[in-house]
Amino acid sequence: MTGLMEMDYQTAFRRSMDEPESFWAEAAEALVWERKWDSVLNDSEAPFYHWFSGGQINTCYNAIDRHLVAGRRNKPAIYYDSAMTGTKRTITYGELLEEVALFGGALNKLGVQKGDRVVIYMPMVPEALVAMLACARIGAVHSVVFGGFAAKELATRIDDAQPKVIVSATCGLEPAKVVHYKPLLDQAIEIARHKVQRCVILPRPEAAVELVEGRDIWWADAITDVEPAPCAPTAATDPLYVLYTSGTTGKPKGVLRDHGGHAVALHWSMGAIYNCHEGDVFWAASDIGWVVGHSYICYAPLLAGCATVLYEGKPVGTPDPGAFWRIISEYNVRTLFTAPTAFRAIKREDAAGKYLDGYDISSLKYLFLAGERCDPDTLEWAASELHVPVIDHWWQTETGWPIASNCEGLEHLPIKPGSPTKAVPGWDVRILGEDGEEVADGDTGNIVVKLPLPPGALPTLWHDDQGYISSYLERYPGYFLTGDAGYRDEDGYLYIMARIDDIINVAGHRLSTGGMEEVLSAHPDVAECAVIGVAERLKGEVPLGMAVLKSGVTRPHEEITRELVKLIREKIGPVAYFKQAIVVERLPKTRSGKILRGVMRKIADGKPYKVPGTIDDPDALDEIGGSLKAIGYPKSI
Ligand code: COA
Ligand code: AMP
Repeated sequence: MTGLMEMDYQTAFRRSMDEPESFWAEAAEALVWERKWDSVLNDSEAPFYHWFSGGQINTCYNAIDRHLVAGRRNKPAIYYDSAMTGTKRTITYGELLEEVALFGGALNKLGVQKGDRVVIYMPMVPEALVAMLACARIGAVHSVVFGGFAAKELATRIDDAQPKVIVSATCGLEPAKVVHYKPLLDQAIEIARHKVQRCVILPRPEAAVELVEGRDIWWADAITDVEPAPCAPTAATDPLYVLYTSGTTGKPKGVLRDHGGHAVALHWSMGAIYNCHEGDVFWAASDIGWVVGHSYICYAPLLAGCATVLYEGKPVGTPDPGAFWRIISEYNVRTLFTAPTAFRAIKREDAAGKYLDGYDISSLKYLFLAGERCDPDTLEWAASELHVPVIDHWWQTETGWPIASNCEGLEHLPIKPGSPTKAVPGWDVRILGEDGEEVADGDTGNIVVKLPLPPGALPTLWHDDQGYISSYLERYPGYFLTGDAGYRDEDGYLYIMARIDDIINVAGHRLSTGGMEEVLSAHPDVAECAVIGVAERLKGEVPLGMAVLKSGVTRPHEEITRELVKLIREKIGPVAYFKQAIVVERLPKTRSGKILRGVMRKIADGKPYKVPGTIDDPDALDEIGGSLKAIGYPKSI
């Protein structure tokens, strides 16, 4: 039989559909199993599916120890480069094992047992990866929280995950500012109902902090006098991590990932999709707080025996738009993965590509883009500057790895700008109409994946099976609702056009407008409100708030909107990039009271729109058009 990596795309895709169990069993053979699985796919509890059930596999063993056994102790595992501090550090697989085993021992000593949760709230430093891998090693479940979230968001996650220990640092570093993590952490612990017993704090020279006696311990002290931890015997179906992502309300969804299916899928994806192999250098320019960081900064490159680049910095301004080219040339990066917004930022500052001069980026073979829709202009600009294939690919926190991509390790298919190419093997993607029937090629519908999802995708939500069903499976029984709408063309290429829910993507960061509305509604002067995503040249889209005030409120509108902006920053965090709110007389609604957010968004973006027949009062739409015009919408972008 042809090996999985020797097949062309179509053969691999067909085999993954026709014989999924043999396909994934073969992919699983590349890893080390403590105990082989009883069944590749256990569907006895459908719609909850379990991959490699009965098997025992430890993700940390496969990401680190396995490579030492194969004689790769001195090979680089992590290239850490901080443009913020000028620090550079190469960590070999041997050194990584020592650090991870020691920190695993420290967690054990702090009382963390298999199955316990550990929240990681850290900047882009190697210790963040060490903490994640240490959890995997001892069978604890990590939950990484992005540094740009406010204390309340952290508290919400603490309450849901109920961690035994939180691992944090004194600060994160953003251009021109120090993000003081410790006060945010203290505040979050104060707000949270779940009381965390111990916190491990990594000191950074840029911020001095006081520890809370009896609760906090410095990283160095935590690893003193501890025994390195061995790999725990984890079942393939045991939880590896929970990553919270925006849903339609302020309550984030805890996306769960298991050990076995996740390791198999990510390992396979490194070769088949990214064409990156043992010894190669892979760089995902993202943040460990997002799924891209989990999958392609931490786990996948290490599972494949690659060196992963951990970059603390931005594409521009740290110090200039040549930052990415420096990293590529310095570490011989073969595959770069980032969000289109990063390239829009570079293009804005260096459209002529002058900063490329002087850097040898000949090691670069591919640029992969994801996280938001990739506009053809950006794709074409990147391709013409870098002279490598620029691959738009589509996935989401829930899926953990790409649903649609050009699978470069199998076969390079022609690129169609605007499309992330075709469904990746394992993903049975369908486009359904409102009636649940598949739509014709070229017609837009809801993008779904026929169950079972392949290994690596979420098996359920953390402690919320019902939420998993109601969020993803109820709309079309037998299918997983991705929340994206789009179409497939006659060649089988997918086009991801819009979200069908209240989620927006700001600079590749996924945010809930519903969550923002919950925050605005809590302002004492606000009677009702709406938040919409409006198109923006650099970030793709940004939120815009509209508030109707309670009758009798006479305070100046500017004062109130300033408070609204501040409120979102305090409650959700700077990452929401909520910079603008306006006061309006009323919001356009349907007769049943549904706010016409989609129509308002089209007006703000200057796109054609249809006035729905169910509209309550058409004048309200005209008024909104007037209010938007007064603040400069539609903008030419
Ligand atoms: N910790 C604390 N604060 C953070 C943060 C972090 N890890 N990341 C971002 N922030 C803050 C920023 O400082 C900024 O705050 P400000 O409003 O006080 O200036 C705010 O959150 C918005 O940040 P960001 O969206 O990063 O905007 P930016 O203007 O600083 O940078 C880009 C714009 C395009 C350069 C940047 O978004 C980027 O590099 N994107 C790359 C893509 C990416 O990471 N995608 C993730 C998924 S692949
Ligand atoms: P996240 O869960 O943060 O990774 O965000 C996932 C969402 O980002 C998807 O559901 C899409 O709406 C959007 N997205 C990601 N990649 C792409 C892409 N290549 N094209 C269009 N939208 C994308």
